[in-house]
Amino acid sequence: MQRYFCLPGSVIGGELSVPGDKSISHRSLMLGGIAEGTTEVRGFLESEDCLATLGALRSLGVNIARFGGNRVVIHGVGPEGFKAPAGPLDMGNAGTAMRLFMGLLAPQSFDSILVGDASLMKRPMERVAVPLRLMNASITTHGGLPPVEIKGGQDLRATEYELPVASAQVKSAVLLAALRADGRTKVIEPAPTRDHTERMLSAFGVEVLRSERTVALEGGQVLRATEVDVPGDFSSAAFFLVLGSLAAQKPLTLRGVGINPTRTGLLELLAMMGADIRVRPKSPIEKPSGDVPERVMSAIGEPVADIEVHASRLRGITVPEALVPLSIDEFPVFFIAAACAEGETLLRGAHELRVKESDRLAVMAEGLARLGVEHELLPDGIWIRGGSGFSGGTVDSHGDHRIAMAFAMASARASGPLEIRDIANVATSFPGFVQTARSAGLQIDEA
Ligand code: S3P
Repeated sequence: MQRYFCLPGSVIGGELSVPGDKSISHRSLMLGGIAEGTTEVRGFLESEDCLATLGALRSLGVNIARFGGNRVVIHGVGPEGFKAPAGPLDMGNAGTAMRLFMGLLAPQSFDSILVGDASLMKRPMERVAVPLRLMNASITTHGGLPPVEIKGGQDLRATEYELPVASAQVKSAVLLAALRADGRTKVIEPAPTRDHTERMLSAFGVEVLRSERTVALEGGQVLRATEVDVPGDFSSAAFFLVLGSLAAQKPLTLRGVGINPTRTGLLELLAMMGADIRVRPKSPIEKPSGDVPERVMSAIGEPVADIEVHASRLRGITVPEALVPLSIDEFPVFFIAAACAEGETLLRGAHELRVKESDRLAVMAEGLARLGVEHELLPDGIWIRGGSGFSGGTVDSHGDHRIAMAFAMASARASGPLEIRDIANVATSFPGFVQTARSAGLQIDEA
């Protein structure tokens, strides 16, 4: 089993960039695949999760060429161009891939089966199957879990669906199915969630009607290929925002990070804690050309910034519930910040963390306990008393990429060496993590 070894006392600072956004990379392949024409994607995230999406699209007959330098070219097959796959489609560890493919495959003329790795096979899929069935899709799960079996040949009809949980994946799956449904589909969210699908559909020429908590679109619209510049992944930058806040003796600057406001709840949480983080948005340009030397607001309407972090004394906070969906993937590393902040931090209303790549509340609590952090695990959150830092020791990520990377950041404030176990899945979202972390000054090795 692969592990990280981290030494305490790193000198943090410098300049780095993080790989492309995972959510946007998945969507660029999918929308490029069902569009008419050739879509070029730059800054694509070549991680295991996104390559699972790429492989599945190829199995559905989409011709996708990969070039060096994170450039991908997709020859779209149009709305009815998918071919029946030869076997089950393997989504690996990628929940986004499985759930969004449910929306893409429900209106097809052929049957398909979706499977994944041990973690994905334990994640809930009925949340997507339920609204798709309202649209006349025929979908079977097994006790709510994968494998997901989709029967083809169903004519989909539009629906109006109020999501019971704030989930961008469910919203996106319904919107993708809605493209092939008869009539106007409307999705109502309990709270705003990441809106990359809506932004990118607009960039592909789809008319998307949006108000604060609703999204609607008319079925039968055809996507037109475009160019996609993928910004740096805010969720990958998050590790370094916390690392810098805890330990940057000199400024730590992150270049070209996506700052879509439906993703940046962590910036608000860290600001409430007293962090010193300076966001410098890039000015929008119409259409980047050539190799895109710098990431800027692109044709897909995703804002980008350079972010500079300085260390500061953090204070514990109570997390406002409205910020939970806007920082949902950042909680593992937020808990590391909370463990170093003076006083108490409380998170409630975050039950969703229990159904991510792992039960992130339970697995983080186990790791915090191993490193001597006083805390209490709650059904829908956690309470942490911060300020005393971390002891050295061994923590197990339980195969969860974000938990492995979060604990690597803790080493900057640990009193002894840290060993982090079961880290192979970091490759699902952050290829080159160890090199990037070293470039920020972290003393980390992989074995
Ligand atoms: C994602 C949505 C979120 C997030 C996941 C990526 C997406 O999941 O946690 O990492 O790309 O739509 P939920 O929709 O389950 O909240």
